[in-house]
Amino acid sequence: MEAEAIPSKGIFDSANMEARKHMVELLCKAYWMEIETVVSYLAASVNLDGVRAQEIKESLSDDVEEELGHAKLFAQRIKELYGVVPGSEDFVAEQGFLQPPEEQTDIVHVIRGVIEAETGAIEHYTRIVEETEGVDPVTQDMTIGILHDEQGHRRLFEGFLREYELEGAI
Ligand SMILES: [Fe+2]
Ligand SMILES: [Fe+2]
Repeated sequence: MEAEAIPSKGIFDSANMEARKHMVELLCKAYWMEIETVVSYLAASVNLDGVRAQEIKESLSDDVEEELGHAKLFAQRIKELYGVVPGSEDFVAEQGFLQPPEEQTDIVHVIRGVIEAETGAIEHYTRIVEETEGVDPVTQDMTIGILHDEQGHRRLFEGFLREYELEGAI
């Protein structure tokens, strides 16, 4: 008599332990990217000066909430995969391009920094979507939703940059 096949437990299968640990590492990186984005966008949403900065400041202020929401989702998924959400001493800053400009009216510096941050997130989340294929559909589904948000953010700020370029303001 043939032995019955044991149903796969997917990412929780003991055979997938290495894949699960690797996924937790990718999710921790994503978590820190979101946290650093919260820090950078919060600063820019307050620091910028000038009439024309208002729209950008409001947009960034909304994004702070959205990026924090992403960080919470990544943290929850780290926990579900039996990882530990890292503490602040593990944080390593990477957004050198999003430090406050010398002049707080330098809106273009911030717009370009946001586009770079969103591009970095899009690249990393695309990697997570690719690596979860066939292994962890739940992490994949969650990350696709977040990736969609980041694509929207980047598109919005590309539009802002285009406006400045057309006006010859840079
Ligand atoms: Fe985000
Ligand atoms: Fe974003």
